[in-house]
Amino acid sequence: MNTNDPIDFFDELDNEEQTDNFINKDKRRQRFPERHFKAVRAENAEFIGAQDDSRRSFNFTYQAARFEEWWLLDSLGDFYEHKWITDVLRRVKGGKEASVYQCRPGPAVDAPLVAAKVYRPRSLRNLKNDGQYRAGRTDLDEEGNAIVKAGEIHAMQKRTNYGESLRHQSWIAYEFDTLELLHEAGANVPKPYAMESNAILMGFVGDLATSAPALSSITLEPEEAGPLFERVLHNIDLMLAHGRIHGDLSAYNILYWNGDITLIDFPQVVLPESNPASWTIFLRDIVRICQYFSTQGVACDPNELAPQLWTAHGHKVVKQVDPKYLDAEDPRDRRIWEKQK
Ligand SMILES: Nc1ncnc2c1ncn2[C@@H]1O[C@H](COP(=O)(O)OP(=O)(O)OP(=O)(O)O)[C@@H](O)[C@H]1O
Ligand SMILES: [Mg+2]
Repeated sequence: MNTNDPIDFFDELDNEEQTDNFINKDKRRQRFPERHFKAVRAENAEFIGAQDDSRRSFNFTYQAARFEEWWLLDSLGDFYEHKWITDVLRRVKGGKEASVYQCRPGPAVDAPLVAAKVYRPRSLRNLKNDGQYRAGRTDLDEEGNAIVKAGEIHAMQKRTNYGESLRHQSWIAYEFDTLELLHEAGANVPKPYAMESNAILMGFVGDLATSAPALSSITLEPEEAGPLFERVLHNIDLMLAHGRIHGDLSAYNILYWNGDITLIDFPQVVLPESNPASWTIFLRDIVRICQYFSTQGVACDPNELAPQLWTAHGHKVVKQVDPKYLDAEDPRDRRIWEKQK
């Protein structure tokens, strides 16, 4: 992509009003007094000014649009300064809440390439239904430590600007914390290297020319489908053993490379012990995995498999889930709720 229109960069935006406030400031000149635009210009100047001198030497190979370039400098500048990365080579994919970039690592990294997952600006992220995943989680700060200060907890509950920035940070910290936990446990996840306030750095799955495709976009050889299904189940089991449910597991969040799988995309991770909807969310993960593998010739029944895995870790199958934890706009959640009634 090479455009100066940030709308192309942050596509599929949900909250039109917020988006408009964030990026279409110039187009609204006639509707607002000059005083407003002075504030907007000051804000932009502050944003650009925040890039200190050392970061100005951060010139990357990837041809980013102007808005995207500011965003990358702001989000990846610390990784560059601390020599975690030396270059941004290309954008791999823009997702609903983040864009992933292929980067050249610095000397401290034991891999030829790294992936930087850069989250969208807080105001442009789709946080519509994050409550169902956050239930029972203690929020984490940018060091990955639990947020315990009453003022910070209050700000998050009141959803002040500061509180929202803490929630954004905690969402990212959960992804990094989970990668650390699962990588250490031997799960098939990218190796996590570093986290900054708006980005995480992890092992790149793929090579210089190609990033690993998601399982959803490939057809497996008949002889590899069964073993890979077992591999996915092993990872799900390992996650349960470490008190985690992926929460958005499907063939879209499993990469395939050199005959093996890598699970990605963990910010919405759910804690089975403390989330009242954990069984329902877990069942949904298993249903989606079975949906894919049954198209690949693997016989699997999620209604048998999910309770087996779940109860093996001492959890009870609790069918009743408060509707507030289900997304009314998601037909899959609606079906689950209908079944429970
Ligand atoms: N470590 C990695 N190595 C290579 N490619 C990656 C890596 N992590 C993510 N990607 C690519 O970036 C895409 C988006 O990543 P991810 O799913 O973590 O973000 P997301 O914003 O939640 O995206 P989506 O909305 O598509 O789920 C993945 O589908 C994959 O193509
Ligand atoms: Mg994803």
